[in-house]
Amino acid sequence: MADLRSAQWYAGQDRNAYIHRAWMRRGVPGTAFEGRPQIAIANTASDLTPCNSHLNEVAESVKQGIWEAGGVPLNLPVVSLGETQVRPTAMLWRNMAAMATEEMLRANPIDGVVLLGGCDKTIPSLLMAAASVDLPAVVVPGGPMLTGTFRGTPLGCGTDVWRLSEEVRAGTLSEQAFMDSESSMIRSRGHCNTMGTASTMGLLAEVLGTTLPGTAGLPAPDSRLLARSHETGRLIVEMVAEERRPSQVLSSGSFRNAIIALAALGGSTNAVVHLLAIAGRLGVPLTLDDFDAVGAGVPLLVDLQPAGRHLMEDFHRAGGLHAVLREVVDLLDQDALTVTGRPLVEYLPEAQIWDHEVIRVRDEPLRAEAGIAVLRGNLAPDGAIIKPAAASAHLLRHRGRAVVFDSIEDFHARIDDPELDVDADSVLVLRGCGPKGYPGMPEVSNMPLPAKLLKEGVRDMVRVCDGRMSGTAYGTVVLHVAPEGAAGGPLARVRTGDWITLDVEARRIDVDVPQEEFDLRAPSQAMIDGLARPRRGWEDLYVRTVMGADTGADLDFLTGSSGHQVSRESH
Ligand code: FES
Repeated sequence: MADLRSAQWYAGQDRNAYIHRAWMRRGVPGTAFEGRPQIAIANTASDLTPCNSHLNEVAESVKQGIWEAGGVPLNLPVVSLGETQVRPTAMLWRNMAAMATEEMLRANPIDGVVLLGGCDKTIPSLLMAAASVDLPAVVVPGGPMLTGTFRGTPLGCGTDVWRLSEEVRAGTLSEQAFMDSESSMIRSRGHCNTMGTASTMGLLAEVLGTTLPGTAGLPAPDSRLLARSHETGRLIVEMVAEERRPSQVLSSGSFRNAIIALAALGGSTNAVVHLLAIAGRLGVPLTLDDFDAVGAGVPLLVDLQPAGRHLMEDFHRAGGLHAVLREVVDLLDQDALTVTGRPLVEYLPEAQIWDHEVIRVRDEPLRAEAGIAVLRGNLAPDGAIIKPAAASAHLLRHRGRAVVFDSIEDFHARIDDPELDVDADSVLVLRGCGPKGYPGMPEVSNMPLPAKLLKEGVRDMVRVCDGRMSGTAYGTVVLHVAPEGAAGGPLARVRTGDWITLDVEARRIDVDVPQEEFDLRAPSQAMIDGLARPRRGWEDLYVRTVMGADTGADLDFLTGSSGHQVSRESH
């Protein structure tokens, strides 16, 4: 075994080693400091992150495995983000969570780390931190919740909130029934049970090679999650001994595999910014265009909400992640390693599909092509994305008049105005919602449709926005438009009444205004006025340094790895 990093704190007979050991002697045996790996459990458990509140129990199982294998477990509570609670949007804090975790791992006597996450931003921020520090690291995804039901019908968290609230607005569901459904939505511990961002990122953590294979997708209350957590505790001690670091696991091949899996699973569009950000921390070359080039021809094999019918409990019962990966194994990078030191593909031969309604075989996909489509055009010179699998087929090629909103507040104030000049063919445009704009790039791109059109039976329209979309949402939504309006992107110069053409097959999104005339237009003053407000602290740092969605919306000074070097003594 190589020298432990923690030995630089604990080894020796001098005053500093005395101080480091003495303050840690709170009931642990003296042998804890004699060459045993010190393993942090970066724990996002928090009562304010309800999707992760069970992770303290998971941590106990991890601890047992670490002790058993000869390591010393150390609980390290880290910044946690509850998607439904944090304002203005949890994405504003993803990079802060990543930065804080990175710094605490680097500052402390740590040899390896187990990353406990679940709710949307928690696994991405933990992986970004681990990638930057490059200490041996393994993820335990907290797992999805069990399926709740209302009036005999399964409820998909998030997705069915949008659906039921639209039914109230359309007058087809009473407000009382909507309220009655509230207590049925969250049946158990765990994160959202659709193929939303949390499910997607938990599964992609495994595809990237950063979990013990066979862990992601286990429902949070499933006793096997605790057994896998125990095994993960043993594994991290082995990883430290063999110096197996994120830079060895997170290769170009791993990201290629993640893009293929994202398409086959029908995963969240948020995975695009998270994967770009994680790759950026390691210097792995990954671009927005890779998502289209690698994922475009991959079939959609999973029939899960928000695009489909079933939920994560069904997915696990039907064979789970490995059953899906086995169907596309020939597309996967055969050499991409996992944290066990063995390639991902070695874990797939035994996988089987047990329910062909939930997971399809390759020859009978739900859609032949499922990946994220990357659009360009004079509205999005640096790119925008659309998830065709969640869109309406008849709108994938569409020309319509823009109805433009300068902020989410402007949108809410006018969308249900009976006098609003909008019809089913209109294109709803919302700007000022990118990383710098809102700030934090909120999940507002899937704008609710005008109530008067809902009452006419309209259920989807083309929408264009520089923000994100909830992984549990659906619709013909062009999102992550870059450059964003607040950074001077062309979205800021579109006017109500302009004709906009979307052509997903041609990968284009354009405003039909003569280019010279369009270039001469000034950006919307109403949008600029909406952005002008006093800022301080994190928000100020964020707005000044955040990069575009097309490169992952990380802070410009956080890209690249600075490793795990030990800082100077202070005693
Ligand atoms: Fe936490 Fe959906 S709110 S995963």
